[in-house]
Amino acid sequence: MNYYIITGASRGLGEAIAENLISKDNHLFCISRKGNEDLVVRAGLKDCRIDFFEYDFNFLEEIDMLAETIFERINFKKADSVCLINNAGVAKPIKPVGNFPSFEIISNMNVNLIAPMILVSEFIKRTEEVTCERKIVNISSGAGKKPYYGWGCYCSAKAAMDMFTGCVGVEQKNITNPVKIISFVPGIIDTDMQADIRECSEEDFEQVERFIKFKENGNLKSPDFVAKKLLELIHNNETKTGMIYDIKEL
Ligand SMILES: NC(=O)c1ccc[n+]([C@@H]2O[C@H](COP(=O)([O-])OP(=O)(O)OC[C@H]3O[C@@H](n4cnc5c(N)ncnc54)[C@H](OP(=O)(O)O)[C@@H]3O)[C@@H](O)[C@H]2O)c1
Repeated sequence: MNYYIITGASRGLGEAIAENLISKDNHLFCISRKGNEDLVVRAGLKDCRIDFFEYDFNFLEEIDMLAETIFERINFKKADSVCLINNAGVAKPIKPVGNFPSFEIISNMNVNLIAPMILVSEFIKRTEEVTCERKIVNISSGAGKKPYYGWGCYCSAKAAMDMFTGCVGVEQKNITNPVKIISFVPGIIDTDMQADIRECSEEDFEQVERFIKFKENGNLKSPDFVAKKLLELIHNNETKTGMIYDIKEL
């Protein structure tokens, strides 16, 4: 059995990843604030076990309890692999720094950075003794490498996440049965996040017209296409720990 923990599976890329993993050989644990009844039904029709947790990552203190609940349901004696996909993310606040309340900074960092870091830590701690394959993917963004006007929180969170991937990669390299951890830059995907970005004013996001054109010109990738590329990468034995993989280079 392969176990996958997928955050942000209520819609967008996370839903597409979960959808592509529906199989009787996989057990999915999905986490987001809203559930996804359609996904649960589709999984059930194909004998795929799925546990959906409606959870808000702003509640940082209880993530370790959530992790305990999930890991208690994993039968490590029968596990071929266990994989965490930190996909949940938020772009907001999209405004120049100084133009939004502090709680928006906190919430952005909670969801994009701190919750994924806690999940990575819980994952490593709770699978230390196991012999099956252990993998982690942090969904990053080109914004982690390049500053964008109005995206101060989002860019910073993704940059920090990439560094965290690198650090854990260094720590895991020389241990027995290391966790393989990577960051993945998915390109521009046709999801609610892009729709939210296109609704910004030019004052808040200077490049909004460019992003509107991306959509009009059909430059956005489908979540299904990106999910399939990501899963190829996860299942490729050549994938190297601690690295940042960009879909453009795959
Ligand atoms: N779309 C793009 O062009 C693009 C480009 C580069 C990178 N990415 C990255 O790709 C990932 C997926 O993005 P997407 O485009 O699929 O975004 P999306 O359609 O907006 O979906 C975001 C997901 O994150 C979950 N989420 C948001 N806030 C949460 C919270 N407080 N607690 C728990 N879950 C929360 C949402 O679920 P609920 O609302 O139900 O909680 C949803 O399932 C993100 O990490 C994003 O940064 C996207």
